[in-house]
Amino acid sequence: MKQFVFLVLFSMMMSCTTQSGEGPLIIGHRGAMGYETENTLASVEKAIELGVDMVEVDVFQISSGEIVVFHDERVDRLSNSAGLIKEYNIFDLKKLILDGGHGIPMLQDVLKQMNGRAALNIELKDTNIADNIHQIITGYSAKPEWSESQFIVSSFDWEELRKYREYSPEGRIAVLTEGDPLQAIEVARELKAEAINPHYSQVNAGNVAKLHEAGFKVYTYTVNDPADFQRLKAAGVDGVFSDYPDRMK
Ligand code: G3P
Ligand code: CA
Repeated sequence: MKQFVFLVLFSMMMSCTTQSGEGPLIIGHRGAMGYETENTLASVEKAIELGVDMVEVDVFQISSGEIVVFHDERVDRLSNSAGLIKEYNIFDLKKLILDGGHGIPMLQDVLKQMNGRAALNIELKDTNIADNIHQIITGYSAKPEWSESQFIVSSFDWEELRKYREYSPEGRIAVLTEGDPLQAIEVARELKAEAINPHYSQVNAGNVAKLHEAGFKVYTYTVNDPADFQRLKAAGVDGVFSDYPDRMK
């Protein structure tokens, strides 16, 4: 029992503190997309190699049912083919070649590769996938390498987050927003979210203080300039997403 309590407390600490124990969490954006093709196993591995606290990936469900890690609705920008990612089945998707010769991984491939070495932010880019995502997280949380506290689910689609909350009453949620982050407080309260994740251009010391007062952490995206990082750190943010996690100093 003591061992169990220790393990739970330890994994909670690991999910909420930085590698160094101070300053904002460093979150590898789409892996470490400044160095490797975004949302690939290579990009995820690079982020871990750079010592991130958390890796962020984007997900869709494809026509044969698998959850795959990809950012765009269409495969055109990043692959040697064209079309909507959702219309691919796994057989045809496996044939796609991304820039740098990479393939599109399934979420399970990323989870197997990470093996609990960092926390994981799963950004829902698709609708009606909350149930599947909850099942995958539940399955991996039961493995010795992972704990539920290492997973956080985010989305700009607040309706999909509502569905996720129904499936997962206790799971960590972050509300993504492009505009004024204070406008997201109401939905964050409703969703019992941990964090509100605004674009960094919308963040200042004043609204960070208000978001903290309301009980939310602030994880801001996508910060690549060390000068911006210093400003945001001084403003009190709790985490930054970066394509170049090693530059966040
Ligand atoms: O979660 C932060 C960031 O990833 C949101 O924007 O377009 O890179 O998915 P995007
Ligand atoms: Ca994303």
